[in-house]
Amino acid sequence: MKLILLGAPGAGKGTVAKLLTKVDGSVQISTGDILRGAVTAGTDLGKEAKGFMDAGDLVPDELIMNIMGERLLEDDCKAGFLLDGFPRTIPQADALEVLLEKIGVELDMVVNLDVPRDVIYDRLTTRRTCENTDCQAIYNVKSMPSKVEGVCDKCGSATIQRADETVEAISKRLDTYDEMTAPLADYYDKKGKLFTVAATSSDKVVEEVTNNL
Ligand code: AP5
Repeated sequence: MKLILLGAPGAGKGTVAKLLTKVDGSVQISTGDILRGAVTAGTDLGKEAKGFMDAGDLVPDELIMNIMGERLLEDDCKAGFLLDGFPRTIPQADALEVLLEKIGVELDMVVNLDVPRDVIYDRLTTRRTCENTDCQAIYNVKSMPSKVEGVCDKCGSATIQRADETVEAISKRLDTYDEMTAPLADYYDKKGKLFTVAATSSDKVVEEVTNNL
């Protein structure tokens, strides 16, 4: 499948994407995971992105398009891809359209994960993420705890709170989402690609998405 997962921070894009990879081998491409990996590795990209990310701001479109322009050409994308956290602005969506047209790929749908704000705050303050940048498994101390507290089930690394999970950064990320990313719902609705789903249960989202492909 070839999907975009749209939704506010904490809506469950990463969780749903990981479940969908198991359906048909489509690959999850998370710009957030790629950027966090670059920050940990201390690359030029990471150094440039870190300040924006920690403050809850978006990384400049040009940096993101450089990453995605290369990533979508990699071989594993031929099996399908789940875009998690990209595009996030109208210019990114326009650039993606040009890119997909160039490589002759059509999106199946844009899944808009709809979750109430109070649920989002609760999820983000209780999320834990595997610190291993090759894993980045997602847990939640309330709804999806790891078997051993603080230890990733998949790779045994520590599970941590992300640098952008302070109250200030969460608030900024939600404002940035409303201003820059939420308009993409209308953008894709006009193209007949939008599929909005109440995302209180991730398994239900997966079921609804696969039934509507
Ligand atoms: P990114 O990593 O994309 O962060 P985000 O959009 O803020 O999304 P999150 O990862 O916080 O949440 P999610 O929706 O994936 O939720 P999750 O599945 O973890 O981006 C980080 C930063 O990178 C940005 O702020 C920006 O600076 C930069 N960036 C990235 N892409 C960019 C782009 N394209 N352009 C510019 N800048 C970019 O779930 C959250 C929690 O809830 C977890 O604990 C999970 O276990 C739990 N949960 C999930 N579903 C359920 C459920 N159904 N029931 C109960 N709990 C659930």
